[in-house]
Amino acid sequence: MRSSGSAARRLYVAGIGSDSLLQIRNASQASATSGASLGLTTDENCGPDGLAVTASGGVLAWCSFTRSVTRIDFTEDGPRSASRMRSGPRLIASAMTPRQHQGLVLFHTASPAVSEDGNLACASCHPDNRADGLSWRIEKHELQTPLLAGRVVGTHPYKWDGGDATLRDSLRSTMKRLGGTGLARRDTDALAAYLESLPAVRTPTRDAAQVARGKKVFETEGCRSCHDGPSYTDQQRHKLAGTLRESDTPSLLGAAASAPYFHDGSAATLESLLRDRGAVHGMADTARLGNQEVADLVAFLETL
Ligand code: HEC
Ligand code: HEC
Repeated sequence: MRSSGSAARRLYVAGIGSDSLLQIRNASQASATSGASLGLTTDENCGPDGLAVTASGGVLAWCSFTRSVTRIDFTEDGPRSASRMRSGPRLIASAMTPRQHQGLVLFHTASPAVSEDGNLACASCHPDNRADGLSWRIEKHELQTPLLAGRVVGTHPYKWDGGDATLRDSLRSTMKRLGGTGLARRDTDALAAYLESLPAVRTPTRDAAQVARGKKVFETEGCRSCHDGPSYTDQQRHKLAGTLRESDTPSLLGAAASAPYFHDGSAATLESLLRDRGAVHGMADTARLGNQEVADLVAFLETL
């Protein structure tokens, strides 16, 4: 057995975007250095999203793309320790079609097609198909990363200003903005198929009576005049006071998981969106709502 001391000071980092495993030696010390770094791609990308260290110092990686476990044993102790990699059998079937699965891999893989020098993957900013909670400065605007899961089908146009008519247009313009060379047409189609297959996020449970009261406030305050239909969007652009010339009505599905709010992320919570309205004004006047009505409306929005 290895001395528990040196093994315990090793840290392993799985990179889903680079499909690799990095070893850091003396991780708890000022003398920390990077050790072995190895690619996990065999016939297919592994997509590591879970690691475990065995008693003998080996590493087990959960390959989320191939749904199998890969075992890595380090056979030497030098700075470039040699390793042996063995992939186990597929443990569960994928619920996706082959095309959606290809899209899943493309979404999580950092490549020069997607971003400059392959520095970013889609999932870097949309982790778990959601949002990083950040507003990025893009073409002179602060633009908040939108949540994607369950919000893609039937919500065109895309982007906060509704500038992209179709999902494929939107993906192409995103890759261009990121400095990527762009994916081939078939790969872009696979990426779109993946995004269209994503179910909406799970919503928190709220008191049913409160939700019913909040729904009533939503109706009487005229929210539905813009946030209508199964995804709570009229798919139209509106002129509101903010930094954008016009804003496309966003879907409200998964609102509980998509803070901050508005295109510039200027409302930190749903309550502040209704109370001080961030930097976007003119959506609906909620100033005269009482505390109870605001709490009810928030509860309703959180269940969408
Ligand atoms: C640097 C962070 C970042 C990366 C990387 C990124 N996105 Fe985004 N995404 C954003 C931001 C910010 C917006 C809003 C931009 C706007 O409205 O102009 C956005 C918007 C979108 C939209 C429009 C959603 C809607 O409802 O209008 C889709 C779809 C999307 N991204 C998918 C992707 C895909 C697929 C990739 C990889 C090719 C990707 N994103 C990479 C930050 C990112
Ligand atoms: C005139 C059309 C219109 C009406 C009426 C309207 N909204 Fe909106 N809503 C929008 C638009 C457009 C945006 C995006 C604004 C922006 O960020 O530029 C938005 C954004 C939002 C957001 C933020 C979504 C996110 O992901 O950031 C929430 C929540 C919301 N509205 C809830 C409501 C509620 C609740 C009401 C009723 C009190 C309401 N809206 C009334 C058009 C409308």
